[in-house]
Amino acid sequence: MDTLISRAVTDLKHARTAVALTGAGISIESGIPPFRGKGGLWERFDPMEIAHIDAFVADPALVWRVLVKELKEVIDRALPNDGHKGLARMERMGILKTVITQNVDGLHQAAGSTDVIEFHGTFAWQRCTECETRVPTRDVDASVLPPRCICGGILRPDAVLFGEMIPPIALTRSQEESSQCDVMLVVGTSALVQPAAFMPVIAQQSGATVIEINPEPTPLTGRISKFLVAGKAGQIMNEILSEVSSLIQSKKQ
Ligand code: OAD
Repeated sequence: MDTLISRAVTDLKHARTAVALTGAGISIESGIPPFRGKGGLWERFDPMEIAHIDAFVADPALVWRVLVKELKEVIDRALPNDGHKGLARMERMGILKTVITQNVDGLHQAAGSTDVIEFHGTFAWQRCTECETRVPTRDVDASVLPPRCICGGILRPDAVLFGEMIPPIALTRSQEESSQCDVMLVVGTSALVQPAAFMPVIAQQSGATVIEINPEPTPLTGRISKFLVAGKAGQIMNEILSEVSSLIQSKKQ
């Protein structure tokens, strides 16, 4: 483990441009359940019934009942953990340029990351289906469902639902960052959902070193990623940062 942390630190130290791709795993330590695996959202719900655009259009109140309990109440009280904070600190140290996240919880920004590409949009904001006004999710009154905008239109997550396209700017920027970086940290994603899971492939094919941080191997492991640092995002990030900090200290002396 120590060796892999040191290898990650060395790769980051030599990187011209490092970026991160994150998934639900980085937010588990903030109390937000993942999608797959034990306790995952898709173990309990059929995504086609609660997260597909057609389901939302057919019965927004029904979809909202699940969203309030499973996402709004959870995300409203979630705080960034050491994983999010570590990536934000890496940005401040000039080590990490951009975070591409599949998460819709807004926790990277809450931790202080300033260049975050929200590949699947965000649940931290809701959007009016009539006038497009955006409202912070914390301010949405969910006592009557579906919640409505002051114009009377139904509010919907500013996130990508199944059956919808990835926001073109997020997709284009992610492809650019992936092809231009020389190190990509892939943190807490099962790498099963396309096109997000293709970003590490673009990075690797463009010559970057792809490093995974995840307690479990993924389809990228041994094929696309150079190595997997096995463990929880918060703990691994702390270990990487403590080694980076001591390198910087010894350089200064
Ligand atoms: P998943 O739920 O598919 O995968 C979570 C990953 O996190 C798994 O690989 C776990 O092994 C790993 N993990 C678990 N605990 C961890 C920890 N403490 N630290 C780091 N990693 C940990 O989540 P995503 O890959 O993000 O899309 O899922 C991708 C997309 O599928 C989501 O954005 C969502 C979903 O359908 C949409 O809603 C459009």
